[in-house]
Amino acid sequence: MSAAPGRSQASSHRSPQGEGTPVTDSVLSAQGLVMKFGGITATNKVTLDLQKGARHALIGPNGAGKTTLINLLTGVLQPTEGKIFLEGQDITRLAPYQRVRRGMVRTFQINQLFDSLTPLETLAMTVSQQQGLGGKWWQALGARRDVTERSEQLLEQFHLTAQMAQPTRVLAYGKRRLLEIAIALACQPRVLLLDEPVAGVPAGEREELLQTVAALPAEVSILLIEHDMDLVFSFAKRMTVLVNGTVLTEGDPDEIASDSRVKAVYLGHGDEINDAMEVAGATRDEAQ
Ligand SMILES: Nc1ncnc2c1ncn2[C@@H]1O[C@H](COP(=O)(O)OP(=O)(O)OP(=O)(O)O)[C@@H](O)[C@H]1O
Ligand SMILES: [Mg+2]
Repeated sequence: MSAAPGRSQASSHRSPQGEGTPVTDSVLSAQGLVMKFGGITATNKVTLDLQKGARHALIGPNGAGKTTLINLLTGVLQPTEGKIFLEGQDITRLAPYQRVRRGMVRTFQINQLFDSLTPLETLAMTVSQQQGLGGKWWQALGARRDVTERSEQLLEQFHLTAQMAQPTRVLAYGKRRLLEIAIALACQPRVLLLDEPVAGVPAGEREELLQTVAALPAEVSILLIEHDMDLVFSFAKRMTVLVNGTVLTEGDPDEIASDSRVKAVYLGHGDEINDAMEVAGATRDEAQ
């Protein structure tokens, strides 16, 4: 394991602990990631730092390489080139489960849940696994007060208390997506990677999901992939724009909103980014 190079700006400072130790608040750092699928370069020298406590959005048109980047970060794919650091440790060659154990958890773009289990059972299983109780989750549900309490707390936080005893298959789609995020949080992540959490959710349920994600504890650093620009601009304090596998730019929402290259990328995809930028700008103006 080697130490992370960190951000060039941050790494120019030196830690009091010793010469050469980079000072950086970067929790997760992708350095020059290249992923080739045959002739297709899905990510092209992507460098991205997720700061501690981040509310960071990764945006870009369809096929830009966003999901590929998450697959590289989580170890589903091995990069053709480049390195990944989690809290200063090189995790580039670690298996997905080893990364989860180190605090990096994802949700998937496609809904993946156990249909016959209830939300309470699903969460109890995850919480008890997290506590090393493994397959004895059904015992834990009755006997382990801490497992039941933590599961009920997550159900309440994600507005799932009323549905906790129903089989997951009868849940509305928006509730299923809330459950997915609750499962991810039950794994006690320090880094949470969300790949399109509102994809396919009816418009009436998006707001609830959006507010719940935004209100997650500050110690959870979040990277969010999202096409819905209203959600992106209300959520993100930092944004990275990916186009054709390459980072076009990174900045705070104001910088991204005023970047003519970003607007040009989205012009062919309707005026959604312009509308969202206007709304975000208006909200900021009101706040001042
Ligand atoms: N397993 C794979 N094999 C071959 N090509 C792939 C594979 N996965 C992704 N690609 C290609 O890599 C490119 C990036 O795809 P990716 O799914 O990462 O884009 P995305 O930004 O997540 O898009 P979307 O917004 O539609 O989800 C696309 O050209 C895609 O066809
Ligand atoms: Mg994708």
